[in-house]
Formats: sequence, structure tokens, C-alpha cells
Amino acid sequence: MNPGFEGELLDKLHSLTDTEVLDYVIMNHAEPDHANAIKAVMDVSSEAKLVTTRKGARMAQVFYKIPEQRLAIVKDGDTLELGDRTLRFIEAPWLHWPETMFTYVEENKVLFPCDYFGAHTAAGFYDDEVENLIHVAEKYFGEIMMPFKRKGAQALERISGLDIGMIAPSHGPIYRNPERILDMYRIWTAGETREKAILVHASMWGATEKMVKAMAETLMSEGIQVSYFNLLNSGIGDITRQLVDSRAIVPGTPTVLGELRPLAVYATHLVKILKPPLR
Ligand SMILES: [Fe+2]
Ligand SMILES: [Fe+2]
Repeated sequence: MNPGFEGELLDKLHSLTDTEVLDYVIMNHAEPDHANAIKAVMDVSSEAKLVTTRKGARMAQVFYKIPEQRLAIVKDGDTLELGDRTLRFIEAPWLHWPETMFTYVEENKVLFPCDYFGAHTAAGFYDDEVENLIHVAEKYFGEIMMPFKRKGAQALERISGLDIGMIAPSHGPIYRNPERILDMYRIWTAGETREKAILVHASMWGATEKMVKAMAETLMSEGIQVSYFNLLNSGIGDITRQLVDSRAIVPGTPTVLGELRPLAVYATHLVKILKPPLR
């Protein structure tokens, strides 16, 4: 829960249960968009233990001032019996921070993977209610998970033995048809590319653009799919989404003071750190 929404979260929790008698609070990820309200919840639920990984426990101490005696550290495969429900914890480090884990509710077959399998949309409650969901999920993958493809593939391997009926990420809709997103994540984390090139340019007086367009036409005449972006009017997220499965990139820039145009420097830097599967 982002800073500033603690009260709203507590109100919602109160409407569901008596928060003063909570036994456990599960923290899959310590980033403030999910974990910022932890101190507020732990203050109200004075008996509750915070369940998290070893690295998560350290972060909870540093970021949210949770004292050591209120932490319950779990490791991969540990379970927590709640009476009629069993929680299983799956360590999934570096998706996308070092402390991240997934929680699986055995009786309901629900996986809570926090950021993994997320999408930046509030368009629907369930996956089948969101148009173009795979498009939005691919954009999210490109922006957040693409640099961690190898860790992502390992996490998929770890959950492959689970009977997953539903995936409830912490961004975007709940997947009641989990196979669809699982299939896409298998492809994306494997770095499978298409016969596709991404052409990105920042022209000044149109000459660079002319060259990039000629390149686009040539590639298309060879049957290669082309996604074409002018950096002056393109969203970075849209470019990132195309990077997820493009095989080649053609950057175009004029020189400014003997260097690349700054906009092109920014774009090439971003491509470098996002580690797309370009050849
Ligand atoms: Fe995160
Ligand atoms: Fe997040």
C-alpha cells in the first residue's frame, strides 16, 4: 500500500476482520507500493508476526522499523498451518528485489506472486474482463521483469509442480485462467524472439528519419516484422513492450556536438539496462 493510504487499508481490513487479533501478516515483497502500511498494520495488530524471507526481515527492520521479535522468517517450501488453510512459501528472489517470495494457499489453489505476473491496469477485476491484457502484461514484463529473465524462469520452474487454479498478483487483474499468463511468461523469460526488428530514432531535421524509414522498408520487403518509433512522440513503455520479443534493434540518431542526440543516449541506456533478448 503506497504511502498515504494506510488509513484506507486499515478501514478495509476492519470491514473484513477484527484486526486487533491478527496472528500473521505476510510480506511477499518489501517495496513501499505494497509494504509501506506494514508498520500501521503491525501497530494495530500488536500480537501479529510478520512472515517474510530472511532478506525481507532485514528490510522490514530497516524500512518499517519492525522489531526482531515480531518477525517470522520463512524459507523456500515452508508451510504455515492456519487451521483450515495452509500457506506455502516459495522463495522467488530478484523478482524484482532480492527478498521477494510467493505465497500459495493450498486449499484454494491460489498463488499470490506479488509483482510477478503483474500488469499496470485497473480495467477489470479478472483477467477475462480486461481487453488487451496480454499487451498490458507484456509492457509490464518489459519494464520490470525483463532484466530478471533468468530468475523468472527459475521461479516458473519452482511453481511448475503446484496445482494453480488462480493467480492473484498485486498489480492488475486476478487470473482465473492462469494458463494464459503462464504460457506467455514461459516464452518471455526464455527470451524467445520473433522475426522482428525494432527501429528507434531521434531525428533532428528529418535526415535520420529518412534513413530509418528506408531501413524499415527494406526489412519489411524481406518479410521481417518492424516496429517503428520516433523517440520524440513515443512512450517508453510501448518501446519496452516491443523489446520483449524483438530480435534486432536499429537505433538512429544525428550527431549533436559530436555525440549522440541526448534523447538517443537515454533510449540506448534504457535498452542496455533492461537486457532485452536482442541478438
Ligand atoms: Fe516491486
Ligand atoms: Fe509493485
